[in-house]
Amino acid sequence: MSGAVPVLTIDGPSGSGKGTIARRVAERLGWHLLDSGALYRLVALAARNSDLESTDEAAHARCAAGLDVRFSSTPAGDEQIWLKGQDVTAAIRTERAGDDASRVAVMPSVRAALLERQRAFAQPPGLVADGRDMGTVIFPDAEVKIFLTASPEERARRRHKQLKDKGLDVSLAALSREIAERDRRDSSRAVAPLVPASDALILDSTVMPIDDVVDQVLAVVRQRVG
Ligand code: DC
Repeated sequence: MSGAVPVLTIDGPSGSGKGTIARRVAERLGWHLLDSGALYRLVALAARNSDLESTDEAAHARCAAGLDVRFSSTPAGDEQIWLKGQDVTAAIRTERAGDDASRVAVMPSVRAALLERQRAFAQPPGLVADGRDMGTVIFPDAEVKIFLTASPEERARRRHKQLKDKGLDVSLAALSREIAERDRRDSSRAVAPLVPASDALILDSTVMPIDDVVDQVLAVVRQRVG
């Protein structure tokens, strides 16, 4: 599926650090980056903007198929995401947007509508794909598959710090409950649940500094891809 273009998949639950790790590894390798979670967040936001009925799967699938999105970066190198020409970078990163994304992500026809769009990110010289089903469904033939985990307590703590750094005051207990609920929904859905691919390397980042995880992932990629 990944063809001649080398693909590294990084899957795992919310707060495992995969977004940060994927971005840093892509920068170090000079490869493209697919943040598949952003696509589900965008579908949820577009659906909300269009007042779609939350149970209308066909309408959500049409919304996913017609998603008018553009990814860019600021001169400082920060990501920018545009939905129908509107800057939604901050809007899709809220806890509500994550929760909404997890709800639309259970819809099989939404997932199907996003399949080819995700595979199209595999362009030379390589792709780092971050998500829940990158190694199992989207790029089953990827050269390197990583499944990144961390304890639920540590993931809640990291998320809490991220939000606090952005000036948002959310209780750690409430975040822990939300993360547990999102884990349950993402792992138990019928289509493309969050599970490690059988050939994935499982890394636990609970007590590992980010730089060490990045170095370990880069070492595996260099060993397999050269
Ligand atoms: O990685 P994230 O927090 O941005 O993802 C938001 C939600 O999107 C996540 O709770 C489940 C869904 N998702 C998915 O189902 N499959 C993916 N490949 C990526 C995200």
